[in-house]
Amino acid sequence: MRRKIAAGNWKMNKTLEEGKALTSEVMNMIEDEIRDDVKIVLCPPFIHLTTLQGLLKGKNQISLGAQNCSEHASGAYTGEISAPMLQSIGVEYVILGHSERREYYGESNELLAKKLNIALENNLTPIFCCGEPLQIREKDMQTEYVRKQIQASLFHLSQNDVARIVIAYEPIWAIGTGKTATTDQAQEMHATIRKQITEKYGQETANNISILYGGSVKPDNAKELFACMDVDGGLIGGASLKSRDFVDIAKSF
Ligand code: 13P
Repeated sequence: MRRKIAAGNWKMNKTLEEGKALTSEVMNMIEDEIRDDVKIVLCPPFIHLTTLQGLLKGKNQISLGAQNCSEHASGAYTGEISAPMLQSIGVEYVILGHSERREYYGESNELLAKKLNIALENNLTPIFCCGEPLQIREKDMQTEYVRKQIQASLFHLSQNDVARIVIAYEPIWAIGTGKTATTDQAQEMHATIRKQITEKYGQETANNISILYGGSVKPDNAKELFACMDVDGGLIGGASLKSRDFVDIAKSF
């Protein structure tokens, strides 16, 4: 059975005090409100991770994720954070290949293949993001586009390793725009991704990989999205910055 996940990507938001308050609120609310089989992942900015890790001690339902990591293990890479560092403070997940990293920081499919390797070597669970820009969707070429992203970054991995990742489909035109993919659009792409994994790694591996949807997930659309057969949860941006909204989304399974 694949895991149901509600992951909050805070992006570059929240001071430390604000982040602590948000985390405490989420912790208190999930106690009685969220199903035990739903995994909550909070992905704050790097510098908050250690403090929040302390706050979350003993709360196994909530894990921490980073929003990125270096493709190198250590060395002269000023300003970078490595996968071994994240592992050393108890971080369990790392978002890789978010469209904002691809677009503003030039991250290519090939670079992401290296980041996936080092994340897996350090026992982090990558949340690998893929998704097409608006121009591609308008030409109805989204399937080829996303298939290429997956093939170029994931298909060097062994079956064991691919089974350890989470995929997030985030159509770029739906991120931060309030324009969510329809349930048909989300389900169609998620099924396509699962089929592609099946072709390469077999049915069992594909059936066990969680595929999250991201892009303007809100409390009022989460239920219908999460009800889609191949949608196993969400990667939530804006709505993860408000505890009530985020927990309401996590309750939508
Ligand atoms: P929004 O939920 O703000 O659209 O952001 C989605 C996202 O980019 C999550 O990684």
